[in-house]
This record gives sequence, structure tokens and C-alpha cells, in this order.
Amino acid sequence: MRVFLDNAATTPLDKDVIEAMTSAMHNLSGNPSSIHKEGRTARSAIEESRKIVANTIDASIGEIFFTSGGTESNNMALKCAVRDLGVTRIISEKLEHHAVLHTLDCLEKHNGVEVVYLNIDNRGVIDLAHLESLLADNDTKTLVSVMHSNNEIGTLNDVQRISEICDANGAFFHTDMVQTMGYFPINVSKMKVSFVSGSAHKFYGPKGIGFIYINGDNIVKPFIDGGAQERNMRGGTENVYGIIGLGKALEKAVANMDERRAHIESIRSYLMTQLSETFEDIKFNGDQDNYHYKVLSVSFPPSPKSDMLLFNLDISGISASGGSACSSGIDVGSHVLVGINQPEDRVTIRFSFSYHNTVEELDFLIEKLKKVVALKELVTG
Ligand SMILES: Cc1ncc(COP(=O)(O)O)c(C=O)c1O
Repeated sequence: MRVFLDNAATTPLDKDVIEAMTSAMHNLSGNPSSIHKEGRTARSAIEESRKIVANTIDASIGEIFFTSGGTESNNMALKCAVRDLGVTRIISEKLEHHAVLHTLDCLEKHNGVEVVYLNIDNRGVIDLAHLESLLADNDTKTLVSVMHSNNEIGTLNDVQRISEICDANGAFFHTDMVQTMGYFPINVSKMKVSFVSGSAHKFYGPKGIGFIYINGDNIVKPFIDGGAQERNMRGGTENVYGIIGLGKALEKAVANMDERRAHIESIRSYLMTQLSETFEDIKFNGDQDNYHYKVLSVSFPPSPKSDMLLFNLDISGISASGGSACSSGIDVGSHVLVGINQPEDRVTIRFSFSYHNTVEELDFLIEKLKKVVALKELVTG
């Protein structure tokens, strides 16, 4: 048996997505920029997906731009805000994904942008009074960048409230919704938001394709030069099959949102109960009142070989994660766990779910965990 519990890193492709993409690969050969029939057919498939994204979040189609994924969308939002909107200060928080944090380092170093980090508590909850005090009586052109859900501990930020604070103080607002797009209803017309990032492979779509929403009031210049694609914003022939897969995946995620959510909520809560009943001194990281239902970050008490937990789970047939999927493949520790002051000797495993996971899989996990946690002789290394 193989159990995949790392769905915050990526999700398997939906069957309908594979079918839509395969059919496009067979039938759509044209370059969407060509004006002949083949080109026009590919173009109209792209625009169909754009319409799905726009309708999903209540944006206009002219506000949606396809990108290579969440990382590019985050780069685009932050860098375009500085280059084109006159932003000289960015307020963010230290639990953001590296796609935001490393971009902030770059903007601080090379563009002289002032970067300020919000106070957070040990659940990863942002101090909104701190945000208000930073924005009040300050004329500096500011962008606030705060993610909707943390990818490692699942804490949900109150992005609606944050958007209102930004709006009241004349600040731009960017939110990385890579983990929540397709999981929660999102409506940009009810939020005062300037930029939103999304990525298909987190909602059962293909990897290497995502999108950015840019509020039509914000006029930004091309992020990639070299062609008129994406209304001049991103030169280069479009990832036609990826865009089609993204549209299909988002359409399905929205149509099945309640049903998938109910299922995932139930298995998450089952696992919490089983873990609490089976192991002593288990803690759940993040805000357990406002959380992303697909993430359960579990902190295990110190034990001599506990650093081998993940490895032993893997060889027992279970894929989970220590934090986020790290780009280098080398576990360098988690800035999120450091940020919430997780004691260094405790070991965290992030279990993250899809609608495919079952109670039987979780029972299998518990049995394996009992062995790798309790029977130290099974622990190698
Ligand atoms: C919160 C968050 N932002 C951004 C990204 C990066 O997205 P992508 O893999 O599409 O570049 C991820 C992926 O792990 C994420 O979890």
C-alpha cells in the first residue's frame, strides 16, 4: 500500500483534467498567436480557461494573466508593484512561502525597498493592530503581502479584514492564495485586493502553470518582454495544454468544493482523534480555529531518533513532509517552524490531504506510526 499525504506539496491530476489535456494535445496544434483556424482554435481554448478563472473569483477576464505558477505570480506582483506602482515599502510576515520571502530579499537588496515584517504569535496568527499602526499616518507608498493559508501549518489569515485595513490606509494588497484557490470561495470583487496568486498543481491541475489576478485599476508593465502574449504582460508562446488543464481543474474544484471539503474535514478530524488517542504529548501546529482543512501539522515529542520519522514513514509506504516541499531536495529546516517558535527537539510532520484519501489509509498510517515512533529498533540511521 502506498499512501500519499503530501497534497499541500502537490495534488494528483484529476481524471477529467488528464482527458481535457490529452484531447487538446491530439486536437490543438496551432500557435494561439496565429490568425489562421488552428491558431484561433487554440486561442479560444485559452480564453475559455481565462473565463473560468475570472468567473471563479469574480474578476474580469482582462484581470487574469497566466503564468508558470505561484512562484512567478508572487514575483510578478511584488516586482511590478515596486517598478510600476511606486511602492517603496512592503509589509509582509516571516511565514510566507520563499517565493515571497526571497523576492522581498531581492527587492530590499537591489531596489532599496524597505521591508517590514508583521508580528505573529505562536499559531502563526498575524497581529492586525501592528498592521494598522504601521499603515496609519504614513505616506510611504506601501504594498502589504500576506498569504491566505500558510502551506506548512495551515493557519488561515483574515485576508478580507487585511484588505479592508489596506484600503482604508491607501495601501496595495497582494495575497498568495496558492493553497486556498479551489478550496474556499474567493471573491476579489468583495475584497480590496490588488494582486492574487494561484497555481494549478495545488488544485488537481498540472504543474508549471498558474495565474495572477491584477486589479484593473493597477496599470503594470510587461513582466516578460518578447511578445504580445497575455496582453503584452508575459511574452512567449502560451502553455496551451497547461492552461486548458488549469481551467478544467479549477472548474471541477469549484463544482465539487463542498463535497470535497466535507470529506477532507472528516478525515482530518479522524486523524487528529487517532493521533491524540494513540500518542502522548502530540501537538497540532497552527491556529486550530482558523485553519486550512487540507493541512494537519503534527508536532511529536523529542525522541533520540525522531529525525528519522519521515524517512521511516516513506519506507513504510507513506509520503508526508517535514514542512514545505523544498526546492533543493535537501531538508534545510523550516523557517515557518522557527517563526512560530517550535522547540528544536520536537519533530513536525505535515500531513496534507486530498479528496482521494480514505480512513483505511489513515488507519494504515497510524499502524506504521506506532511502529516507527514507539519501536525504536525499527528506526535506522
Ligand atoms: C503558499 C505557496 N506559495 C507559492 C508556492 C509556489 O507555487 P509553484 O509551485 O506553483 O511555483 C507554493 C508551493 O508550494 C505555496 O505553497
